[in-house]
Amino acid sequence: MQTTKVTYQREFTIAPLDPRVFGGFLEHMGRAVYEGVYDPQSAHADEDGLRKDVMQALQTMRYTAMRYPGGNFASGYHWMDGVGPKESRPVMRDLAWQSTETNQFGTDEFMGLVAKMDWTPMFSVNLGTGTPEEARNWVEYTNSPAGTRYSSLRAANGHPEPYAIKLWCLGNEMDGPWQLGHIPADQYAIRAQQAAKLMKDADPSIELVACGSCTTRLPSYMEWDRTVLEYVGAYAEYVSLHRYVGNEDDDTPDYLAVTNSIDQQIEEMDAVCRFVQAKKHLKKRHYLCFDEWNVWYRARHGDHVNGRGKFAPHLIEEEYNLEDALVAAGFLNSFIRHADSVKIANIAQIVNVIAPILTRGDEMLFQSIYYPFVMYAKRRDGMALRPAVAGPGYESKSYGYVNTIDTSAILGEGELHVFLTNRSETESAPVEVEFGGSLMGCKSAEVVSGPGPKALNTYENPNVVTSQAFKAVQVQDGKALVQMPPLSVVALTFQVK
Ligand code: AHR
Repeated sequence: MQTTKVTYQREFTIAPLDPRVFGGFLEHMGRAVYEGVYDPQSAHADEDGLRKDVMQALQTMRYTAMRYPGGNFASGYHWMDGVGPKESRPVMRDLAWQSTETNQFGTDEFMGLVAKMDWTPMFSVNLGTGTPEEARNWVEYTNSPAGTRYSSLRAANGHPEPYAIKLWCLGNEMDGPWQLGHIPADQYAIRAQQAAKLMKDADPSIELVACGSCTTRLPSYMEWDRTVLEYVGAYAEYVSLHRYVGNEDDDTPDYLAVTNSIDQQIEEMDAVCRFVQAKKHLKKRHYLCFDEWNVWYRARHGDHVNGRGKFAPHLIEEEYNLEDALVAAGFLNSFIRHADSVKIANIAQIVNVIAPILTRGDEMLFQSIYYPFVMYAKRRDGMALRPAVAGPGYESKSYGYVNTIDTSAILGEGELHVFLTNRSETESAPVEVEFGGSLMGCKSAEVVSGPGPKALNTYENPNVVTSQAFKAVQVQDGKALVQMPPLSVVALTFQVK
């Protein structure tokens, strides 16, 4: 294959990468909470019933913002059901996933996990079946000094100090007809505005995420966002977007080009934010919170999404292969390339439910998408740089023209992190990386690859798609020459002058 030339320049900056772009999402659904992070029966359980093996694995992913408790679940959840003595908590029907929720894990248990993991908590309030006042009471429970009704309840539950939760989502996917309590944009906007005011009255230091379009496919796409921002813009700092992608047509080159449409979605959402800012003559710019993203298309129907009344059923336990790992890297590249507008992003989700990590009894399995995430997360600190790419490419069926090599980069302290994906199924790709002649040496290099696009890890064969040390990189005359295997993701850290 013809060489691809990837050029970065110290001066061609985008913005510092917000570490919250490496966020996660833990929903009360399927086996994410129960059997995922919380399993008092497990041989791995600690004194709080949290799984030590899972926590250790999550630690390697360096998650920052952790969104909780949903998702669709949040739109029917009443937080008071999940606090206080465990034996008095009600067992409830969860209508979003047709499951049984025992409420043995709630706000205080989640905050215990957050403390152990050093995450930034990000709560979604219930604006489906809940009220603005219930949302405001939750802020008082978590953030006010003890001495008032809800803050004293927290203290009585064993947590005298406020948790100071800064990030709050004003509902979840309220534009989706499947959402409990779904309403048209202007009605959601009024409900969200009421909740936002009460929540900020309870604690003015919090930051709010308004529900934006959760898919590009609904007819309300963009109009929803404009309406919501015009109403809630004065209170909210961020607007949310979601994206799940898949290879429904079993066309690998097309699937790997989906990154184009992720770039496009981000740019369109940013355009609405800028439109409303201009129209309303606002000083404040709204930033993007990409608070659900992943590959999800196999486990989408029937029993995958209907718990049939069970507790902790197997829901949406997607199995990930090599091509999915390349697409996950594509999401991260896109976020880095849009570091000026995307300030928060959450992979959905963290364990068992469409997740990089699976559990089976006391066993654990790392799926393919775990590996690129870890490679990027290790190298996430610094300034995102603007790439210039010259090299071969192809016209994809659904997403237009793409370069065979996808890339992003972050400039850290005395080092440059470069991420590269080779979309070719059959050919290895020579890549020349330039940084004004000042690459001094390669400090570390890793690659994710495998025997083919559908290669995946199983409990019986857990190391088919993993990350390995990468050797095919040479630094000469201030430039790097990289030989990428077919269908691979490479992460490189260079020492720079
Ligand atoms: O992450 C699974 C589900 O996907 C979430 O509950 C919902 O917000 C989205 O539709």
